[in-house]
Amino acid sequence: MKSVVVLDFGSQYSQLIVRRFREMGYYSTLLNHDCSKEEMESQDPGMFVLSGGPSSVYEKDAPKIPNFIFNFSVPILGICYGLQIIIDKFGGVVGKSKKREFGHSILKIDADDPIFKGIPNRIRVWMSHSDRVEKLPYGFRSIARTENSPFAVVRDESGKIYGVQFHPEVAHTEHGTKILENFARNVAKLEKNWSMENYVEKTIEELKNRIKNDRVITAVSGGVDSTVVTVLLNRAIGDRVIPVFIDTGFMRKGEKEEIERSFKELGIKVECVTASRRFLKALENVEDPEEKRRRIGHTFITVFKEFADGLQKKVGRIRYLAQGTLYPDVVESRAPERKDASKIKTHHNVGGLPDDLPFELIEPLRYLFKDEVRKIGKILGIPDEVLNRHPFPGPGYAIRIIGKITEERIRILRDADEILFEELRKYGLYEKLWQAFMVLLPVKSVGVMGDRRTYENVLVLRAVESVDGMTADWSRLPYDFLNKVSTRIVNEVNGVNRVVYDITSKPPATIEWE
Ligand code: XMP
Repeated sequence: MKSVVVLDFGSQYSQLIVRRFREMGYYSTLLNHDCSKEEMESQDPGMFVLSGGPSSVYEKDAPKIPNFIFNFSVPILGICYGLQIIIDKFGGVVGKSKKREFGHSILKIDADDPIFKGIPNRIRVWMSHSDRVEKLPYGFRSIARTENSPFAVVRDESGKIYGVQFHPEVAHTEHGTKILENFARNVAKLEKNWSMENYVEKTIEELKNRIKNDRVITAVSGGVDSTVVTVLLNRAIGDRVIPVFIDTGFMRKGEKEEIERSFKELGIKVECVTASRRFLKALENVEDPEEKRRRIGHTFITVFKEFADGLQKKVGRIRYLAQGTLYPDVVESRAPERKDASKIKTHHNVGGLPDDLPFELIEPLRYLFKDEVRKIGKILGIPDEVLNRHPFPGPGYAIRIIGKITEERIRILRDADEILFEELRKYGLYEKLWQAFMVLLPVKSVGVMGDRRTYENVLVLRAVESVDGMTADWSRLPYDFLNKVSTRIVNEVNGVNRVVYDITSKPPATIEWE
C-alpha cells in the first residue's frame, strides 16, 4: 500500500503530520530520519514529508536528508527544518533570522500552483522558527512569502520538491490541511487508500493467515486497547484467543464483574485470576511510587506466567501473546533521540507484558492512534460505555493512595470513587472529562461532626480535560456538583472528614499524583 512517509527530524508535530494524512484518507507512517533503506522500502513511499526539528542546518552534526530517498523518485515536501535541509542540500543558504517568528504570520501567495488550489491569496499561518532561507539554490523559486520570510514556500523546477517554512499540520494554520491534501493529490498523485473499515477487514484477514490453528493469550484490563485487541482476534480466530484478567485488588468496585459482563455481551469468555492478596503482600510498607510500580509489574508478570502455564496444561500450547501497543509507543521506541527525554514516570508496566515471555508477540494496533482504536472498537460493535471509559492506570489505586497501602485505605478510596462516578453520571459530566478520580492523602485533618472533634483522612478530587493525556487542564466543574460529591463522601465514607479539589494543570503537575 503506497504510503505518505514522514521523516522525523525531532519536531513536536511529527505525529500530527501523520495523523493529518490519515484523516484525509491516505495511509501515512513516521520513520526516523536515520532509518535504513530497507525499512524505507518496506513502507512503499508514494511521497515524503520532511518534518521540522530543533536543529540548525549549519550546526555540526545537524541531521541531513538521507540520500537514498531520492532513488524513490517521488515528491518531497519539507516543513520548517525540512525546508531548510532541502535548501542546504541543493546549495542554497540558511541563516539565523534577525527576527524570530513564533505564532501567526500572514502568508502572501504569489503563484498559481497545484499546492495552493482552492486557497485564498492571503492566509494566516503558524510559524515557529529562528532560522530562515537567505538564498535559494539554483532551480528553485519562491511562490509565497511572509513579512519576515521572503522564501516561505519554495519549489524546484521539476515541481517535485517543495518546502514550506510554516506548519500546515497545526490547526492554527488556515487551510493547512488543504495544502497537505493538495500536495498528496495534485503533486504526488496519490489515491486515497486508508479507512478504518478497510483496516479492520484487512487486519482480521491478516490475523487469520498468521495465526492459523494456534492459540493466543491476551491480558485484558477493561480498557479500550486490550478490549479492541481481544475482539479483533476473536473475530479472526474465535475462542482460540483467551483473554485473562488479573484482579490486583487495586481496581474500582465491581470492575471484575463489569469486564466479565461486557465481554460476555461480545460473546467472549474471560479467564479471571484473583491475586489481590499477593499484590497487597508485595506492596506491604512500600511508599515510593516507582517502587510500587516496579513491584506491581513484577507480581503481575509472575501471576500471568503461572496462570498461562496452568492453562497450557489444560488447553494445549499457546503460541502467541497479543498486546495493545499503540502507534505512539512504537514511534517512541524507534526514535532514539526521544528516549533521552527525562523519565517522569514508568508507565505501561502493568498489562503491558515484557516481550521476553515464551510467546510470539502480536500487536494488531501498532499503526493506530488512540482515537482510531476507538473507531475500530465502534466498527467491531464494542459498546460506547467501554470505548468512552476514562483511562485507568495499570497500577490502579496503588498510585492514588499516597504512602502505604492497606485494605482499609483501599476501601476508603474505592467507596469515595464510587460516589464520584455516580454523581458524574447523574450530572452528565462523565463524557466531558478525560479522567476523574479521588486520591487519598497520607495526612489527617481536624474537623467537627455532630459537635465532636474529628481527626480523619483527606481526599483529593482530581478531574481533568485533555486530548491525549500529554497535557491537561483541570476541569471547571460546577460548584453545585463539587458540593454534592464532597458532602456525600464526608457523610457516607467512614474515615474521611475533608475533600479538596486539585486545581493544577499538566504541566506543571501530572494527572496522577504518583
Ligand atoms: P500522568 O500522571 O503521567 O498520566 O500525567 C498520564 C496518563 O497516563 C496514565 N498513567 C498510567 N497508566 N500505568 C498506566 O497504565 C501507569 O503507571 C500510569 N501512570 C499514569 C494516567 O492515568 C493518565 O491517563
